[in-house]
Amino acid sequence: MNKINHIAIIMDGNGRWAKNHGVDRIEGHNAGVKAVRKTIKACKKFNIQYLTLYAFSTENWKRSKREVTGLMSLLSSFLDSTLDELMESDISLRAIGQLDSLPYIVKKKLNSVIKKTKNNKSGVCCLALSYGGRAEIVDTTKKIAQLAKDNKLKISDIDEDLFSQNLYAPDIPNPELIIRTSGEFRISNFLLWQLSYSEFYISDILWPDFDEEELKKAIDNYNARNRRFGGREEE
Ligand code: FPP
Repeated sequence: MNKINHIAIIMDGNGRWAKNHGVDRIEGHNAGVKAVRKTIKACKKFNIQYLTLYAFSTENWKRSKREVTGLMSLLSSFLDSTLDELMESDISLRAIGQLDSLPYIVKKKLNSVIKKTKNNKSGVCCLALSYGGRAEIVDTTKKIAQLAKDNKLKISDIDEDLFSQNLYAPDIPNPELIIRTSGEFRISNFLLWQLSYSEFYISDILWPDFDEEELKKAIDNYNARNRRFGGREEE
């Protein structure tokens, strides 16, 4: 039986894929978008309710202007073309991150797709955009400090539950499984709060080559593990 409700993915290796194929980096990201579509479908097939994709990090703004513009334009066309697919497969779109720093047109399209898909019930695809785990923790701390300043809570009310309730998407459960592609063993500032007890799966596949079969391998690998959450092994 599948025990996973939420999978988070660090989609790494678009640049290396492009290099291997002798094409521009943006072509690698374009191939990465195709893998995104396949993965959304595969999650539905395997009954994974939540999928969070690390599509653009706070650090990614430091890439060349050309690459950043190319990624934003891919995101924009992805949002245009994905609405029908999301409606057909009954999946809602969400986003986490410092969304205000996205270009106006991307923000507008993002909000429109989020709004149009919000009543879909078969799954959630959450895009991490202009996202950083440390930034999320700082933003959450600011929110809580403001509530305390406005006398809406007491310092003694602050605990892990209250903190979790003030993250970008408090209703989305923590991922049981985090997948990183391209054989790298790094967390890269992704979901630092939410990944405390998540299991890691590193795939050697470069993101554009990731598909249903690779996802199935990760899920099967997870399902064969025994999670203890720091406690004793289950009898
Ligand atoms: C890492 O590859 C990937 C990214 C920085 C961006 C991920 C973006 C996509 C898959 C496409 C856009 C997504 C959506 C949802 C439209 P890298 O460039 O760091 O690869 P490298 O380490 O091989 O250079």
